[in-house]
Amino acid sequence: MKKQSTRDVGIITLAAVLILGVMLVGLQTSDSVKAHNSQNANSQTTTSQVEKPFDQAQALADLRKTIAGQEQNPASEVFKNIQMFKAMPAGRLLRVMELGYAKSLGVNCTHCHVAGQWEKEDKPTKQIARDMAAMVTNINQEQLKKIKNLKSPDPVINCTTCHRGQTKPALNLPDSAPKQ
Ligand code: HEC
Ligand code: HEC
Repeated sequence: MKKQSTRDVGIITLAAVLILGVMLVGLQTSDSVKAHNSQNANSQTTTSQVEKPFDQAQALADLRKTIAGQEQNPASEVFKNIQMFKAMPAGRLLRVMELGYAKSLGVNCTHCHVAGQWEKEDKPTKQIARDMAAMVTNINQEQLKKIKNLKSPDPVINCTTCHRGQTKPALNLPDSAPKQ
């Protein structure tokens, strides 16, 4: 009788362990399915974020919001890494970026910046732009002043003078240009 009950307890324990085992495996499977599904959901979000095209108007609107109330303060006090336009009002710097730089080269902000990381120096084009600005200043303040008998009392060039909406300034007029 005692022997019998020990065996019964043994069988019951075995059955319980088996049932528990099956339940655990079931739990694990449903968890890993859930994990897998949420991984898929995550990777879908990441892909759609990467594929979203850069929105320049939105970037400018966000920046204007960030500097609201400080538009007239010197750019060097409002932004993080100003080496050239230190005294320029912060609001004006954004207009130079939009119209003086992006538009005149026919590009958007991401030609010189990683979007949102404006203070960084990730792209060589950002330093090129500073070097180009130094060249323009030199032409305006030194070279043009040496040339006599020009029409303007104070002749100037800017980025658009050469670039005209292209990253590589043209050496020839387009074929379609009217012949003189
Ligand atoms: C042709 C290259 C070029 C383009 C295009 C350009 N930038 Fe810049 N950006 C610069 C340079 C160069 C500086 C640093 C100026 C300095 O050192 O005084 C700068 C600085 C900035 C800063 C200051 C960041 C900080 O915290 O120091 C912001 C903000 C900025 N740019 C936004 C923009 C936005 C927005 C656009 C597009 C509308 C844009 N830029 C397009 C070259 C560019
Ligand atoms: C006197 C003519 C001239 C002026 C003015 C000028 N550039 Fe340039 N720029 C060039 C030439 C030439 C290149 C080289 C193109 C090449 O790679 O063949 C160039 C290249 C560049 C590049 C590299 C483009 C790329 O994607 O490789 C940037 C950025 C640039 N210029 C910005 C400016 C900015 C900003 C201004 C105004 C501050 C400016 N440039 C004014 C002649 C000029």
